[in-house]
Amino acid sequence: MSKSHSVWVSRPLFPEVLAHLAQYVHVHAETEDRKHSSAELREKLAAVDGAIVALSDRIDGNVIAGNQRLRVVSNLAVGYNNFDVPALTAAGILATNTPDVLNETTADYAWALLLAAARRVSSAERWLRAGHWRGGMRFDDWLGVDVHGKTLGILGMGRIGQAIARRACGFGMPVLYHNRSRLPQTVEHDCCATWVEKSELLKRADHLMLVLPYSAQNHHAIGAAELALMKSTAVLVNIARGGIVDDAALAVALREGRVAAAGLDVFEGEPAVHPALRELDNAVLSPHIASASADTRRAMAQLAADNLLAALGYGPDAGHPRSPLNPEAWGKHAAET
Ligand code: DGY
Repeated sequence: MSKSHSVWVSRPLFPEVLAHLAQYVHVHAETEDRKHSSAELREKLAAVDGAIVALSDRIDGNVIAGNQRLRVVSNLAVGYNNFDVPALTAAGILATNTPDVLNETTADYAWALLLAAARRVSSAERWLRAGHWRGGMRFDDWLGVDVHGKTLGILGMGRIGQAIARRACGFGMPVLYHNRSRLPQTVEHDCCATWVEKSELLKRADHLMLVLPYSAQNHHAIGAAELALMKSTAVLVNIARGGIVDDAALAVALREGRVAAAGLDVFEGEPAVHPALRELDNAVLSPHIASASADTRRAMAQLAADNLLAALGYGPDAGHPRSPLNPEAWGKHAAET
């Protein structure tokens, strides 16, 4: 097949996914994993019809200004706070993301962080590796907080929140949640979950998981005032986005024992991590890997590639990308072509 479209892939991707793309289009794939500046993004995007980009690539009006060629930008993530969707729509550029394929894997990881932080897994391992386990150990050493049977709070009850909640049944944990809109009763029933106001959630949850998307309104949704409402025995888990938690305020609450522990996969300004969080033994920290299982990262890459190809008119979904964020932009192109 003669290829008439070119695409840019902003970070290294699974070879089989790149090979799949290359059956249809010219592929320019980066071999180094790094953040691109606005100027670099502008230059790269000016030369292609479509792009697969990562969360660290900020695609805003400035980056696409005057770009007459680009038709689709496919995000390698379900969250898309790196996209200025209205600007993309105004430019007639379709934006897509990778929903659903990561729900269960991400939910698993939220539980991994909750259990690790509650039961002090990381600090115990650091202590053991440092050679401190020589003689006996006091019976009252390494005491954590229980998870089973406690009340789980979930802030943000989309598909990942629901997958987390379903697992809570197995731990005998009632679930309280807060979301802008209440879920249908059947879903609440499946998730053993009850809607409450945010302040009630913070006060009543024995452990709290954050699963809400980032937006300007959600910036520091958990700050000093919210942390002050939480139980001192609570574990806070953030698998959502950096900026939802005021990391400086959290570090103070953790240091002062006003929150027992935290499991954090995302950070304000990542890859930088607030220095005070790094110092704390009661914070389990990981580098934004909640969706990183081999199967799920492959599925995300495949979906990002399929969305891109479909938007350019190739593959089984040609003309019907599976997860468009701004189908109205797609309408513009369909009308033009
Ligand atoms: C997402 O998909 O939004 C995750 O945060 C990236 O793994």
